[in-house]
Order: sequence, then C-alpha cells, then structure tokens
Amino acid sequence: MTVSRIVAGGVWFGLCLLAAADCAAGTSNSLLDISADGQLLACSNRDAGTVTLIQLPDLKKLREVPVGATPEGVTFLGDSHQVAVAVYGDDQIVLLDADTGETLHTIPVFDEPYGLVSSPDGRRLYATLDYPGQVVTIDVATAAVVAQHNAGSFLRGLALAGEPPRLYVTEYYTATVIALAPETGQILDRWPAASTDNLARQLIPHPRRPKLYVPHIRSRVTAVHGEGSIFPYLSVIDTRADQERRRTRIPMDAFLGNRVTANPWEVAVSADGRKLAIVFSGTNDMFVCDVVDDDYREVTYRGYVTLGHNPRAVRFSPDGLKLYVYNALDFELVAYDAESLRAAGKVAVCENPLGGQVLQGKRLFYSALPPMVGRRWISCSSCHPDGQPDGRTWHNPEGLRNTQSLAGLLDTHPIHWSADRDEVQDFEHTIRGPLMQGRGLIPGRVNESLAEPNAGRSAEADALAAYTNSHKFALSPHGKQGLSAEAARGRELFFSRETACASCHSGKLYTDSAPGPADKLVRHDVGTGQDDPTEKMGPAFDTPSLLGVYRTAPYLHHGRAATLEDVLTTCNPDDRHGKTSHLNPGQIADLVEFLKALPYAGDKP
Ligand code: HEC
Ligand code: HEC
Repeated sequence: MTVSRIVAGGVWFGLCLLAAADCAAGTSNSLLDISADGQLLACSNRDAGTVTLIQLPDLKKLREVPVGATPEGVTFLGDSHQVAVAVYGDDQIVLLDADTGETLHTIPVFDEPYGLVSSPDGRRLYATLDYPGQVVTIDVATAAVVAQHNAGSFLRGLALAGEPPRLYVTEYYTATVIALAPETGQILDRWPAASTDNLARQLIPHPRRPKLYVPHIRSRVTAVHGEGSIFPYLSVIDTRADQERRRTRIPMDAFLGNRVTANPWEVAVSADGRKLAIVFSGTNDMFVCDVVDDDYREVTYRGYVTLGHNPRAVRFSPDGLKLYVYNALDFELVAYDAESLRAAGKVAVCENPLGGQVLQGKRLFYSALPPMVGRRWISCSSCHPDGQPDGRTWHNPEGLRNTQSLAGLLDTHPIHWSADRDEVQDFEHTIRGPLMQGRGLIPGRVNESLAEPNAGRSAEADALAAYTNSHKFALSPHGKQGLSAEAARGRELFFSRETACASCHSGKLYTDSAPGPADKLVRHDVGTGQDDPTEKMGPAFDTPSLLGVYRTAPYLHHGRAATLEDVLTTCNPDDRHGKTSHLNPGQIADLVEFLKALPYAGDKP
C-alpha cells in the first residue's frame, strides 16, 4: 500500500498505520471511483458510452469523455489522475488523463471487460473478462496485456486486497468467490455459494478485517410467484483459510422489518471500515449499515435512504464524510452526508442518450415498485439484467423455461419458446400475474396474447416494449476475425442437406420463425418436449435464432443441454433435431465452433 493512497483521508491515515497491509478500500470494481487525493470522481455511463469527471467536493462537472459502447468498471491508477475504464461493448480498456480528458491508450482485450482495479502503485491494471471467465493483467507503462488467466466462468466482481495482495473475483451466475495470485494467476482459494445464488457483479474488501462483501440475488426457480422466487442478499466472505464459517448470507429483504428491497447492485465500505452502504436498483433505495466486528452479525442497520431511478453505484469519499450514489437512469450523481444521510448536492453526469420513450420503458423494466410489481421483490431486470439472461431455467406454469436473451428481440418475434406472445405489450399478463402481482400499465382488460393487439393502449406499455426491443446482437468474440478453419468446416455441415440444420435455422437470423397470424406461426417438434411431465404447451417449439448462442448456456427450452455439444448429441438421440448421428466427434466439434462464432464479422444482421 503506497503512502499517497493512505494520506487521502485523516481517519483512514490513522487506521491504516495500525494495519497498513490490509488497507485496500477503493481497490474494488465499481462504476464510480474517487482519486486518492479526494479531488476527482470518475463515473462510467453505460448508456451514453462516456466517462464523466466531477470535481469534489463542490460537484462540478469538469468533462465528459466518449470511450465506446457500454463502459462498466472505472478506476483511478494509484494516486494519479489517470483513469482506466473497462469498455464492455467494444472489448477494450481505455486510459484517460482526467485533468485534460485526453485519451492516452486504447488497449484491446478478448471480450467483455467488466471489473477493473489498479495496483496501489498504479503500475498494473487487472480486469475481469465476463464471458471468457478470465483475469487479464495490463502493464500501464507499455499499455500492453502481459498476462491472461482462466479463473472461472462469467467473471465480474474484482478486488485487490491483503498482504501479500490477492485478487478476488466473483462468478456472475454462481456467486462463487475465487482468490488468485496476481502474478501467476494461480487459484488460491474458493468460496462456493448456494446453487440458487445469482448475479454477483461486484465485491469489496474491508480495509482492515479479513472480509469481503458481495451483493447478489437468489433465484429460486421452483417458486414462480412474487414473494417466493427472488431475494436480495449481502454475502460476507471470511478470507481466512482456517475458518469454519466461511460465508455468511445476510437477507436484505428482512433487514429492516418488512421493508423489502430488490436487486442489490453495489456495496461501498468507508475507508475507516466502520460504515457500509448497499444500493438496490429495483426498489431505488439504499441501506447504510454499521460494520460489526463480531464475525456473526457482520452489519447492523443504521439508516435507509430513498434514491432516484436505478441506482447502480455507491462510494464513500476518502475522508468518510460523504457518500456518492449514481442513479443510472436519472443520469445523475447525488452526494449525501455520510453521518446524517441528508442529501448534500447533485450533478448531472450526462444527457439522456436514450430518448424519452426508451428511458421511460427502461425505468419500468428495472422497477420493482408499483405499477410494475405489487410486492417489491422482482423486476423484469431480475431475470433479464441488461437484456442478458439470468442463466436459469424457471419452473413456469407452462413447463420448464430457460430464460432467453433479449438480444435482437425486435427482429425475432414471435416471443417465448412456444411463440405464445406476439408483442412485448403482452407482458402485461406477466406484470399482472402471480409472478409480479403488479397493477399493470394498460387500463382495463388485457387482450389475449395472440389475439387483438395490446400495442397502442398505454404509453407506458409501449415504452416498455420500445426498451425491451432495443437490445441488439453483439458480434461473437469467436467470430471477430471471421470464421476459423474449424468453424468454416462446421458451416459446411450446418448448410448440408444431410444435417438439415438450415431447413429450420434459415436466413440471416438462423430461424424460420416470423411474425404472423396465430394459426400460421411455425413450430417444430424436435424431440425435446417428451419427458417433462409439467409441460403444457410442447412438444413443438419456436425455432430460436442462433445468433449469440455462444454465451447463453444452458440450452433448449428446458435448459437440459449444458453445452452446444449436448444439444447435438445427448439431447438428439433419434436425429429428430437435424441429423447428427452420422457425424464423428471432430465434425461435431466443427459444428459447435461454427455455432459459437455466430454472429461473425461479415454475417452480422
Ligand atoms: C422470474 C424471472 C423472469 C422475470 C421476472 C421476467 N422474465 Fe421474461 N423471461 C423469463 C423466462 C424464463 C423466459 C422464457 C419464457 C418462455 O419462453 O415461455 C422469458 C422470456 C422473455 C421474453 C422472450 C424473449 C424471446 O426471445 O422470445 C421477453 C421479451 C421477456 N421475457 C420480457 C420480460 C419482461 C418485459 C418482463 C417484466 C414485465 C419479464 N420478462 C420478467 C424469465 C423472467
Ligand atoms: C425441424 C427444425 C429444426 C432443425 C432441422 C434443427 N433445429 Fe435446432 N432448433 C429447432 C427448435 C424448434 C429448437 C428449440 C427446441 C427446444 O427448445 O426444445 C431448436 C434449438 C436449437 C439450439 C438451441 C438454441 C438455444 O438457444 O437454446 C441449437 C444450438 C440448435 N437448435 C442448433 C441446430 C443445429 C446445429 C441443427 C442441425 C444439426 C439444428 N438445430 C436443426 C428447430 C430445428
């Protein structure tokens, strides 16, 4: 730990001298970071594709710098005014000079950089790559990736803490926490979670205690109703190797009587280690807690604050006096007095880049409040965060249903595995149903899903549809350079008359399904709907688009195929889903390589 990082705040200074080795607050992934001298705040704006630099403590917007599509983690480098940002959508890490706004370097990485931290001396940057499940090390002086380690699957949260320093990462879809040696990438320890734990996108270390805090949800797929299926948690990880109680899960829906909160997004810990704040992006609120040094309760209630739309980030100032919250769908940063929890100023970080209608729809999609939801547990985004699937198969009333990606939705109507809906406005049935128990958006009676349109009946329902339909396909990282030799051979097989894949997965979207009157919708029985006694709509299903399947395991409507290979082999025993039994293992592998490359450069719709 460098001295310069320590002198950032008086209180911090004192405590760090007591235990300098563990003082690592600030070295954890977030959409906000504050420079070590406490003068600058950097805020990453996912929708605008920019990073905004704010002068503290007066909250003056200094500049907004374009960095590329959907930036996520942002961090200052050591005690400098250089900022790095993980540009998730463009697969690059951008280094900026915060004082001038100048772009210093653009460093390409394989795919989906998410979390980003700097070493205390500012010489190294570490990033988690989400889909690839890797941690990359960047040498700042040469702006080069110097190491790349496979560490798990779908890695998001990232922190650097302890002495000797360790990297801690979270797996997004399992909430497992993994410790790695920064230099070698060697896996040193793992803290598995319950099988229901999900969407762990961040973690933050305590500056002195051997603890990590992880916000996440729990997806209980067997109970598809408002108060039984999705729960908010704060997990506390004990990083000591010899502890019996390695992981404590604190329910955030019961933390303050019956005040249910939904979709915890980020946690902050003050530099003196005494306070913790957690923001909820579904109920638009925040708990501020006292950290208890008892290895048992861990945190106790201190205060509750109502926030703006879709809070996604929270940080304490280095001196611990202020708390900053980023309300992502107000495009606003709000400061609070960390003691009284009173608002102490705000600043707009960017213009609304979405337009009025999509913004309205996005706020509804993320909301776990009325009129969307009756009981505050769930929002559309709990299962479709940023349009991506939650990686789960839900036990729906119509049968087992794997959550679909919303990428390319506008072009892939009809909707659902069974093509039982033809417009997003039909999700009024979901909103009013047992899952969400909301009042709803459409006045009066709702039309049956495949009957008269529900579009045009409510500005809010139309806005929800406009946002839900706005998700685009992204190029596969396996197809950025076009097709490999293996994938090109797989393409031949895919389009061969023998396999017949393209007879159903046809056209630019690799599907023969198209909008139309209810009695003309195409569905195929490919032998996948036979053995589920709960199935009410099969055995014929809508042909799914294959664009983007590289990152949406598990597969098929029931999620029983863990890999693409399983779709073609164990899940296709009788050749009813294309003909695959004549293919040798090498040919199956080639076919899988082709599927993984979709959509590839030159073939993107
Ligand atoms: C409990 C998790 C959960 C919640 C909450 C949820 N969904 Fe879904 N969503 C699913 C599952 C599972 C499927 C697949 C269902 C099926 O095909 O029958 C799905 C499918 C979809 C699809 C179809 C995508 C396609 O390619 O056909 C859309 C659109 C969608 N959901 C939108 C929404 C909206 C809008 C909301 C909020 C009103 C919402 N979802 C709430 C789990 C959820
Ligand atoms: C008769 C039409 C038909 C043919 C031929 C066909 N498919 Fe499919 N495919 C479907 C349907 C319908 C589904 C959805 C089935 C389900 O979910 O149970 C599907 C699902 C898939 C999925 C899973 C997608 C996901 O998101 O889970 C993959 C991958 C796939 N098909 C690849 C192929 C390949 C490769 C071939 C050729 C060997 C092929 N299909 C042949 C109709 C077809």
